[in-house]
Amino acid sequence: MTGDEVLDLLRGVVDPELGSDIVDLGMVRSATVDADGRVAIEIALTTIGCPLQAQIKKDVTNRVGSAPGVTAVDIAWDEMTAEEKAACMDKARFNASQRATETTVPATTRVIAIASGKGGVGKSSVTVNLAAGLAAEGFAVGVLDADIGGFSVPRMLGVEGPLTSSESKITPHVKKLGTGRLEIVSMGFLVEDHDTALLWRGQILNRAVQHFLEDVRWGDLDYLLIDMPPGTGDIQMGLARMLPRTEMIVVTTPGIGVQSVAVRAADLARKTYLRLAGVIENMSAFTCEHGETYALFGEGGGQELADRVGAPLLGSVPIEPSVSTGGDAGTPAVLGEGAAADAFRAIVRTIIDEAVPPASMAGCSARMFERVEAALGPKA
Ligand SMILES: Nc1ncnc2c1ncn2[C@@H]1O[C@H](COP(=O)(O)OP(=O)(O)OP(=O)(O)O)[C@@H](O)[C@H]1O
Ligand SMILES: [Mg+2]
Repeated sequence: MTGDEVLDLLRGVVDPELGSDIVDLGMVRSATVDADGRVAIEIALTTIGCPLQAQIKKDVTNRVGSAPGVTAVDIAWDEMTAEEKAACMDKARFNASQRATETTVPATTRVIAIASGKGGVGKSSVTVNLAAGLAAEGFAVGVLDADIGGFSVPRMLGVEGPLTSSESKITPHVKKLGTGRLEIVSMGFLVEDHDTALLWRGQILNRAVQHFLEDVRWGDLDYLLIDMPPGTGDIQMGLARMLPRTEMIVVTTPGIGVQSVAVRAADLARKTYLRLAGVIENMSAFTCEHGETYALFGEGGGQELADRVGAPLLGSVPIEPSVSTGGDAGTPAVLGEGAAADAFRAIVRTIIDEAVPPASMAGCSARMFERVEAALGPKA
């Protein structure tokens, strides 16, 4: 038995949480065998005292201990450095993407899920305003309304009527905005009435989201924004499996007290290895016509949440009637004037320039690949 042979054995030990083997994940620092057949293995965990340590230990001991010539197995535990941890997560994410199912979302589309800890914080308003703002900047933006409890997205964007399909693919509602466009699908289009929809459970919802990701004929989207239902881990886990490149933006109100709920939404992102792209504070202090400022829903919560979850605060959107009237009229506030419109536009710029820049068209192998495939015609 040699050290390399021990490594080969360890390739059979899978970190149950990360779903890959511990050698591939870079968790095995060294493996040596002495003349008496004693094996020494050094394993670095993402967090020491990780509850999975016992299981990994059992797996390692079983696999290596039963190999011919092995008389003993000693394991030394250590914790990964920040760099090792980052590399390990990248690897886990990459492996997950290799296992992912095929979707109709183009490979170069940046996917952003908009989530919140609780309902009513303006998640749908933020989704439609960011989508319209990105489209107004000339991008092609898909909007997937996965929030069965609300499905307000179509109304907020001024589209209605059932989705049509052709050649067994669903055609999204398309709305042109300047040189950009919106492509919209909603749970609301799948069911007859809201009461039925409210009976849907996580798993069924998840199937519906999968349906939208696999059976919609999306155009050449730069962005896909997903209005997430509050609190359903099922959908996030499904997304992580189907579209592991999904990034999350968490929306919160400014109250300090509500942040623990929002932290849970961020934690869920971490658990499913989705990158947290940032935090948006909505319903921040509004300034009345006399210049007086009113912090109706508290202050500082957006920054506090951002600090706690280690993601940037992308911006704060004040309370302003234009957000709700724009939503009712199907014309998002971002397309008009005012403080809320300015705030949304600034966040859109931050997304494009820093937080989630669009995949570059030039030199991007994925897009070139798609073009070449298209030029070669349908697969045989
Ligand atoms: N910045 C704002 N200024 C004024 N009104 C706002 C603002 N943001 C959201 N609203 C209003 O608050 C209400 C709730 O917003 P929205 O429906 O976007 O929240 P949500 O988080 O998606 O809620 P749900 O959990 O019900 O889906 C809506 O009537 C909306 O018009
Ligand atoms: Mg909503």
